[in-house]
This record gives sequence, structure tokens and C-alpha cells, in this order.
Amino acid sequence: DKGGHRHFMAKEIAEQPMVIGNALRHYLTEAGDDIRLPGDMPDLGQVERLVLVACGTAYYACLTAKYWFEQLAGLPVDVDIASEFRYREPPLAPGTLAIFVSQSGETADTLAALRYCRDRVAGIVAVVNVEESTIARASDLALPIHAGAEIGVASTKAFTCQLTVLLLLALRAARARGRMDAARLADLLSALRGLPATLNTALEIDAPVREVARDLSAARSTLFLGRGLMYPLALEGALKLKEISYIHAEAYASGELKHGPIALIDETLPVIVMAPCDALFDKTVSNMQEVMARGGRIVLVSDAEGVEAAGGGTFRAITMPVTDPVLAPILYALPAQLIAYHTAIAKGTDVDQPRNLAKSVTVE
Ligand code: M6R
Repeated sequence: DKGGHRHFMAKEIAEQPMVIGNALRHYLTEAGDDIRLPGDMPDLGQVERLVLVACGTAYYACLTAKYWFEQLAGLPVDVDIASEFRYREPPLAPGTLAIFVSQSGETADTLAALRYCRDRVAGIVAVVNVEESTIARASDLALPIHAGAEIGVASTKAFTCQLTVLLLLALRAARARGRMDAARLADLLSALRGLPATLNTALEIDAPVREVARDLSAARSTLFLGRGLMYPLALEGALKLKEISYIHAEAYASGELKHGPIALIDETLPVIVMAPCDALFDKTVSNMQEVMARGGRIVLVSDAEGVEAAGGGTFRAITMPVTDPVLAPILYALPAQLIAYHTAIAKGTDVDQPRNLAKSVTVE
């Protein structure tokens, strides 16, 4: 049942405020003022290192979480793609907690990576959508993301729910390791409780997204840029676009632009810049200027302050509501998904069943 939407993907994008609200209800106390985890959750104050392993979109959720765990909690994190991890057979320090993230809980490479970790790490936690899945059962503890069934092959609501659960773990780790005071935690939890409403506002930003999508649908290739927490999101935006519109899309950390990809810039290459007006914004503006000086066409996804600060040269802008920069990857996932969705609609591709792809990759 598409609930009145044209595609499952549209329905699942629209459900995000609700399902993130569900995830928060499950992982916050009734008053919403503290994080509630199962009793058998390993103590994130004692863990020495994390290793996060996944595939595809779930891998980008892990990459985002690395920034959170390292910056907020001072906890070192290795992140890997399951298919690389399992055959590289990395040495693992005894105090390592391994976290596997999978919507389906059936991804063959992720499961094999999990099995490799058995007897090599201090604990195995799975962050899954399907609670009865093989990966959930093979782990010491499974943390459900509460996204509800995800039918569209392109993962949307599972991604933002994965991010929500991983952020809560990072906040718990930050508190347990004495890296965050109670007031900052209270601030962030309050911002998180307000997130469903902010996401609803973001879902209304339709007109500029459609205009951007119309432009992108005529492009042969696109580039996504982001810095810090927005870098993994740029990767996710590029994956979404190529999966359902078949337009080539690449993502780079903004600072890498001049180390190679700037050679691609000309008037035919749309460059999508994901950048809330945070501490790194000035650097992003100078990257944008480098692109525009070479005739590149920028789509800036930012908040009103960022769009204003970027000046008049911007090709197109999508103006987002404001949130705490720590939460920005969850909020900015929406324009990334909507750009891909509307571009696919403009091209007439099959949004829910893109060619060559399966929802769950249970073979290598
Ligand atoms: O079920 P999983 O989360 O383990 O799936 C991982 C990837 O196969 C999945 O995220 C894939 O990249 C999606 N098609 C992305 O939209």
C-alpha cells in the first residue's frame, strides 16, 4: 500500500518524521530527557574502539557515525565496507566493539563480516530494521531502528533511522566517557525531539527541488560535495541519484576538489553542495567560488544564513530549516533523497524497482 503516494519511495521519504519519532520514543525515556538502551548494551564508557561495518547506504550511515563517535565521544572508530572487511581479515584489538548496520539484516557480506568478528571482539551489536533477521540473530544484541517495512529499493527512511540510533549511541558514549556535559546533552536531545517537526518543514520544500531535478535530469554526470558530517551525506546523495535516475554521480569531500575532480568542472556538470551554515561553511564557500569561476553550476543546499552568505553567484539554492549542526545529516538526507526522486521522475525511470538492483543482497 503506497498510502496515496505514487511510489513506495515517496511514501517512505514522507514517513521519516513519523518513524524517526518512533525510534526516539523507543530510545528515549518517557520525559525524553535521557537515552534508554537495553540492559545488555555494552558500556560505551569502557569500550576502547569501535568498528562499524555495512554496505551501501548503511555504510554511509556508519561513516557519518564515525564523525559523531570521534568528535562527540572521543572514541576511535574504524569504518569499513563489509565486502572489503571480510576478505582483508583485519586484526582487531580485544577492547573493540563491532557494530553491524543493515536494513534487511540479510546482506551476505555484512553477515560474513559479523561472523569473522565472532571470538575476535569484545561484543557484537547489530543495528537493523528487520528484527527477526539473520544478522539480528547472529549478534549479541540487536538494536531495531523502528523504520517499519521499507519496500523501495533505494533506502530512505532506514538511513535516517539508522542515523538516529547511531547518534543516540554516540551521545551515550559521549556522556559515559565524560566528554559531554548534561546541559549539552539536554540541548541535543531537545533538538532531536524537535527533529520530526523540522523534517516535516523540510518535506515542504518542493518547488526548488523540482527545479533542480529538472536540470539534473538533463545532465550526464553530477558531483556532490560536502565537508565533515556532510561528506558521507554527499556520498549518499550521489548513490541515491545513480541508483534511481541512472545519472552518473560522484561525491567528494569538498577539500579534495582541488586534488583532482576540479578538472571535471565545466558548464555541463551540476555540482550539488550540501552545507548548512556551520563552522566549516566559509571553507565551503571558497570551494563553491572555485567551481563557479570555472563555469560550474552550483546547487547549494543550505539554510537561509548559508544561502545569504554564499552571495549572488549561486546557480540554484535549496533553503533548509535550521537545526543543530550535529543533527544536520539527518535533516539534509531529505533533500538528497528528494533530488534523486524528482530527477528519476523527470527522466521517467522506475523509482521503486531500479534496473539491476535487488532490495536485499543475499549473495556475494
Ligand atoms: O539491507 P542492508 O542495509 O544491509 O543493505 C545494504 C545495501 O545493499 C543498501 O543500502 C543499498 O545500497 C541500497 N540500495 C541503497 O539505497
